[in-house]
Amino acid sequence: MAKEIWKPGNMLYPLPAVLVSCAGRDGRDNLVTVAWTGTVCTNPPMVYISLRPSRYSYQLIRETGEFVINLTTEGLAETADWCGVKSGRDVDKWQERKLTRGAASTVSVPIVEESPVNIECRVNQVLELGSHHMFLAEVTAVQVSDEYMDGGGTFRLSQAHPLVYSHGEYYSMGKWQGKFGYSVKKGKKARKQIR
Ligand SMILES: Cc1cc2nc3c(=O)[nH]c(=O)nc-3n(C[C@H](O)[C@H](O)[C@H](O)COP(=O)(O)O)c2cc1C
Repeated sequence: MAKEIWKPGNMLYPLPAVLVSCAGRDGRDNLVTVAWTGTVCTNPPMVYISLRPSRYSYQLIRETGEFVINLTTEGLAETADWCGVKSGRDVDKWQERKLTRGAASTVSVPIVEESPVNIECRVNQVLELGSHHMFLAEVTAVQVSDEYMDGGGTFRLSQAHPLVYSHGEYYSMGKWQGKFGYSVKKGKKARKQIR
């Protein structure tokens, strides 16, 4: 297969596009769409978000060291895009997008009630990398919407239709391909396990 060689850049896709909620010391809160995010450690559970210092949200998170990662869905796609082009300096994104502030359990930042998963975070370190500063944070609590819990106590995130961001475009999640470890399980049954 022939290849084109490109200059160095960001091509690690697909990614989630999450809604990060944050609040300043005086309680003014905001939402910002973030794709530069991920999990970095299982124990202790740690995540990161990378923000440009010019973002209004950057100032708020610097002040309190707290934020919540709210996962997005197909139903929240337009809101995620909108919150990624408007600034909280000019608009109340919660009000404009009719989002509901809910109570976090460990941080003083509201969660987005409409999101199926809310990951409460406290910043450990800020790495000033360049265009973006990386907030390395410990997860202090996770809230999940019980409507996606099945009768057996399993959380079915796929039923919330998570939003996927890939090279500047939004997608829904694709076709189910198998379960963790299915490649080493014997027989066709492994692929057909009921989810
Ligand atoms: C899909 C998407 C992903 C984005 N990812 C990031 C990101 O990872 N880091 C960042 O600083 N800005 C990112 N942005 C841009 C901010 O969301 C945008 O500048 C926003 O208006 C800043 O809001 P604020 O000024 O209220 O904080 C993204 C925007 C979109 C639409």
